[in-house]
Amino acid sequence: MTKIVILTGAGISAESGVKTFRDSNGLWEKYRIEEVASPVAWAQNPDMVLEFYNQRRKQLYEVEPNPAHYALVKLEEKFDVQIITQNVDDLHERAGSKNILHLHGELKKVRSTVDENLVYELDHWELKKGDKCEKGSQLRPHVVWFGEPVPNITKAMQISQTADIFIVIGTSLNVYPAAGLINYIAANKPKYLIDPNAANIQMISNLNIIRKKAGEGVPELVDELLGK
Ligand code: OAD
Repeated sequence: MTKIVILTGAGISAESGVKTFRDSNGLWEKYRIEEVASPVAWAQNPDMVLEFYNQRRKQLYEVEPNPAHYALVKLEEKFDVQIITQNVDDLHERAGSKNILHLHGELKKVRSTVDENLVYELDHWELKKGDKCEKGSQLRPHVVWFGEPVPNITKAMQISQTADIFIVIGTSLNVYPAAGLINYIAANKPKYLIDPNAANIQMISNLNIIRKKAGEGVPELVDELLGK
């Protein structure tokens, strides 16, 4: 079965109403990265960090997957599909995609600060100071912060190497190591990049750039791949 590997970023969830990070009016316009998404921030101002992720989590309960998320599910009719997402939302899961690898963690999960293997589902939006793991330590968001390793990157590289077709959707390709995954795809394999503001990338062979919003560009490409 032909294997399609898909790398998604904040742009695929934009039309669901989730803010991207780097667009004008994106999240990093309002917050300084070091203030909310780093181990230093957590050490110096845990209240602010908790509040930032609580607001993101609260919003997640108010949004729905959009046509781009649903179109990727349809690809499973004919292909072996693996999604690698930089997003911490659960919109791929809620749309119904089967194989999803989260590179930067998951907003609806929290984990222990003394044992990273103690990961819990949070069934409501708010993580509070004083919420503790079974070993008695404060729980933190289960997200990868700047300066922290990306535990799933080796798996993502291995998956990318097996791709017959590679599709990148809605990412500025600014954050490594995720942005480097495209370099693991064999030169002769077709690659697609769907992003209305995609840069002119010339170093990657067999790359088709589709400058459209995900809600339009993804269903179109999916229909083309399914031969509809
Ligand atoms: P960015 O905010 O850097 O990039 C979002 C991309 O989505 C941009 O290239 C936009 O042009 C594009 N975009 C906007 N609207 C779109 C739409 N309707 N359809 C398709 N594309 C659209 O977000 P990411 O690349 O995902 O990490 O950012 C990568 C990482 O940076 C995030 O996972 C996050 C952040 O720091 C962590 O929090 C660890």
